[in-house]
Amino acid sequence: MNTFFVHESSYVDEGVCIGEGTKIWHFSHILSGSCIGTNCSFGQNCVVGPHVKIGHSVKVQNNVSIYEGVEIEDDVFLGPSVVFTNVINPRAFISRKNEFKKTLVKKGASIGANATVICGVTIGHYALIGSGAVVSKDVQPHALMVGVPAKQIGWVGISGSTLIFTNEQSEDDYAYYHLVNDALKVVLK
Ligand SMILES: CC(C)(COP(=O)(O)OP(=O)(O)OC[C@H]1O[C@@H](n2cnc3c(N)ncnc32)[C@H](O)[C@@H]1OP(=O)(O)O)[C@@H](O)C(=O)NCCC(=O)NCCS
Repeated sequence: MNTFFVHESSYVDEGVCIGEGTKIWHFSHILSGSCIGTNCSFGQNCVVGPHVKIGHSVKVQNNVSIYEGVEIEDDVFLGPSVVFTNVINPRAFISRKNEFKKTLVKKGASIGANATVICGVTIGHYALIGSGAVVSKDVQPHALMVGVPAKQIGWVGISGSTLIFTNEQSEDDYAYYHLVNDALKVVLK
């Protein structure tokens, strides 16, 4: 039996799949063709879709709309009031429904409160976007990004902690990290 929870104040349209253990809280709307994995949680006032794919164990805080064109992989954290976009040059009087740009948030990444993601970018796995940042370019895996436009100020481990390097080596509870040519080599523990 598929056991997911949808609060009575929320709407789930036809043709949606929702995985076991997922919880959708108050005043949210899941639009048709969307697929949400297992053990996810959506806070109050969230919108998903149409035709959006969301992985497993994704945590979405209050007031987040995940529009068509955005894809979220497993274990992603979206802080309160994170903003996604799907049209790069919107006009009220021109339909751009066939011009949605793809935005991909890869496994384990976290996006802080009130950050904005300009469409067309890929946020690498386990990257961490600081609150209020505006992401306008692709983000490297494990990068720590802040500001407007977002710039990299460091690296984070799988744990989410900022990595401190000695001789370009670092570690956290999950892995060993080695900086090579401005990219992070990760060896799981
Ligand atoms: C980005 C973040 C992870 C950095 O944390 P940290 O590694 O402890 O970094 P520090 O607090 O030491 O800050 C490092 C520098 O970045 C700046 N900074 C930190 N967060 C920033 C942000 N969101 N935007 C702009 N600058 C930021 C600090 O002012 C500091 O600048 P300085 O070196 O000139 O003094 C954290 O500040 C953040 O934004 N977390 C997201 C919180 C959130 O939204 N949670 C959602 C769930 S409630």
